[in-house]
Amino acid sequence: MKIGILTGGGDCPGLNAVIRAVVRMAERDGHECVGFKDGWKGVLEGNFRTLTRKDTSGILHMGGTILGSSRTNPRNVEDGWERMGRTLRDNHIDALIAIGGEDTLGVARELPEHGYEYVVGCPKTIDNDLNGTDYTFGFDTAMNICTEAIDRLHSTAEAHQRIFVVEVMGRHAGWIALHAGIAGGADVIVIPEVELGLEEICEVLRRRHEQLERHFSIVVVSEGAHLKGEDQIASQETDAFGHARLGGIGEYVAKRIKETMKIDTRAVTLGHVQRGGTPTARDRYLATMFGIAAYRAAIERKWGTMAALRGTEMVAVSLAEATTEVKRVPPEQYHMATHFFG
Ligand code: F6P
Repeated sequence: MKIGILTGGGDCPGLNAVIRAVVRMAERDGHECVGFKDGWKGVLEGNFRTLTRKDTSGILHMGGTILGSSRTNPRNVEDGWERMGRTLRDNHIDALIAIGGEDTLGVARELPEHGYEYVVGCPKTIDNDLNGTDYTFGFDTAMNICTEAIDRLHSTAEAHQRIFVVEVMGRHAGWIALHAGIAGGADVIVIPEVELGLEEICEVLRRRHEQLERHFSIVVVSEGAHLKGEDQIASQETDAFGHARLGGIGEYVAKRIKETMKIDTRAVTLGHVQRGGTPTARDRYLATMFGIAAYRAAIERKWGTMAALRGTEMVAVSLAEATTEVKRVPPEQYHMATHFFG
């Protein structure tokens, strides 16, 4: 079999571990692997190279992706589907493993309608918002980076009696904010799924400052969150999949808290720091398991499926299930976190 691999969308720690796992398994079984450059762009342009065990040696611990990534959307490219089909058929790609999030896998889901059905998905996103899988690789690393940042901000917040608003990634879902917020002992967590008003936030902070005599606080905000009843300026810039470029809510919330509470309040945006660097041991393990599962799905011809983690088991779910809607934080999980506010 000739197996194509691509990594699309925002990069994520663990991508190289998946590539390595697929190539190792394939080579062991006598199959050939090729890697497409920069996600769907490489398929559109017929830009790929052979991947051997030698090419993928020493990359397990590396962030980023040796294949490169892009947010290329073939739907926006003239004859995009035809060009991709041609590349895949003319180069005898017997299976394509698409490693990506909702957008990259959404394209994978549509490929069969355009004449190429031999595709399987592997879930990737630090946001952990892909449906059908309990976790995605990359999330653990991002969560740990955010928790460390919150820990560091605690001591400087206390020294200067300040409030810090920490903006973390999470376009549609507040998983990073929720997990890092709980792990870091945030005083308030604001996520896209549950709207919170400025007064509710300030009330928690005031109570904490008065009752505990702790005159500093940490508020963690997901980039996709909004303050209830307030008109926040959204970016006009969108990516190739029509998503608004986020970032700025942390600054906005900090400004509003400062105006209301008259306490020095600063914003820290963690941004792409969360996506870079070496994956945690957990993500290296998880990414390796996902790579093996995606490879098996390809070998077993489970076309149109995505490798998914359910509990401790790797299973195959349909790409339709994985991409029709995103996985959001259930309100009851958020409610549990509120017990630790303040
Ligand atoms: O989807 C993952 C993600 O990291 C989001 O949390 C974030 O909104 C987006 O990617 C940022 O993308 P870009 O790299 O295009 O700025």
